Amino acid sequence: MTDRIKVLIVDDIPETRDHLSKLLGFESDVEVVGAAGGGAEALEMASKVRPDVVLMDINMPGMDGITATEKLAADVPTAAVIMMSVQGEADYLRRSMLAGAREFLVKPFSSDELTASIRQVWSREKEKQTRYAPVITSQEISNGSGEPASVVAVFSPKGGVGRTTVAVNLAVAAAQTSKRVALVDASFQFGDVGVLLNLNPKNKSIADLAGELQTGEAESLDTFMITHSSGVKVLLAPPSPEQAELIGPSAVKKVLQGLRGSFDLVVVDCPSTFNEATLAVLDEADLILTLLTLEITSVKNMRLFLEVCEQLGYGPEKIRLVLNRADSTLGIRVADVEHSIGRKVDHTIVSDGRSVVYALNRGVPFFLSNREAQVSQDIQRLAAAVTGPAPTAAIAKPGDKAAKGAAKNKSLFAWR
Ligand SMILES: Nc1ncnc2c1ncn2[C@@H]1O[C@H](COP(=O)(O)OP(=O)(O)OP(=O)(O)O)[C@@H](O)[C@H]1O
Ligand SMILES: [Mg+2]
Repeated sequence: MTDRIKVLIVDDIPETRDHLSKLLGFESDVEVVGAAGGGAEALEMASKVRPDVVLMDINMPGMDGITATEKLAADVPTAAVIMMSVQGEADYLRRSMLAGAREFLVKPFSSDELTASIRQVWSREKEKQTRYAPVITSQEISNGSGEPASVVAVFSPKGGVGRTTVAVNLAVAAAQTSKRVALVDASFQFGDVGVLLNLNPKNKSIADLAGELQTGEAESLDTFMITHSSGVKVLLAPPSPEQAELIGPSAVKKVLQGLRGSFDLVVVDCPSTFNEATLAVLDEADLILTLLTLEITSVKNMRLFLEVCEQLGYGPEKIRLVLNRADSTLGIRVADVEHSIGRKVDHTIVSDGRSVVYALNRGVPFFLSNREAQVSQDIQRLAAAVTGPAPTAAIAKPGDKAAKGAAKNKSLFAWR
């Protein structure tokens, strides 16, 4: 058998370990590679046997399952943890997910539930690994520096967290400082940028460039961009979802490389789907503003995304974490989030449903219609951090005093 799923069982009760081993012994695609009676023993065993899946009990004397899961994420990151507990309370689930568990089983569970969970967790991990492996090579090609414009991708591994809202208002805010700003809607299937900016032209979207992009460079880029009243030049997503497949990764790269030449800043609104076209945007970007909210699913996906970024060879300076709706305190605290993902949040944006949704429905960005609101001020701060406070300091050469000053301000232009 070539591809058996290697499982490590961790439980302090010997009968449970035996019972689980026996159950799994009937499965031809599963191999029990070890059984540990506590967290510390589990870590030691896992680094030797490199399991694909770890069945981890939560309550154990000594090092408990949650602490062991946290440590395992650092020691053996390829091992996916399925947490087991007699308590199915939300707090246990929340703490397990924050620790890095991929699945949660409440005892007693049936043998079918157990094997289905193992297979599901394992196939998700496998898919993740195979999907990202080939991209590492294309990263080497697209890592060029010294280009004139900065490409900023607004991304999140979870939908509905505010990417389009932030991308649109960020572009508008940056355009107020007389920078030449382009905004690209790379949510090719269900792009919302046109709605937020009240733009609905005929035959003016990236789909109209598709033919040209297949055969050569994006020479008519300018023709298919729309100038918004804020000064931002917008390249919209195709008007219908089926046209999304016209835009592959090489087309994406050509567009972004073309825009670098004529703009100071290119803001790209990304989808949360992690396909080849999205990866092309992320590769091409100088900076990835990665959005998250104070929700368990958002935090979990963020941790997985940061792992992927590491595999893709993106340095930590390429990624900035933006916490949207940062003041909605319905459970998780910012400190919990930072602890869970092992990184500090770089920027925060307050929650302001009134301004944001009102602006959305009118098709006027809140940054233009409600500049005094806290949410607009947060966007302004984000724009300043991304574009640099002053153009002279921002484009100073590395090593000179101005560059050092700009670096302190975390200017994107300065660290390029
Ligand atoms: N800071 C905020 N305060 C209040 N509401 C917000 C905030 N940011 C975003 N929203 C609301 O959250 C919803 C989702 O926002 P948005 O469409 O920008 O997210 P998205 O990540 O682009 O979603 P999608 O996955 O659909 O592309 C919208 O209704 C928006 O108005
Ligand atoms: Mg969106």
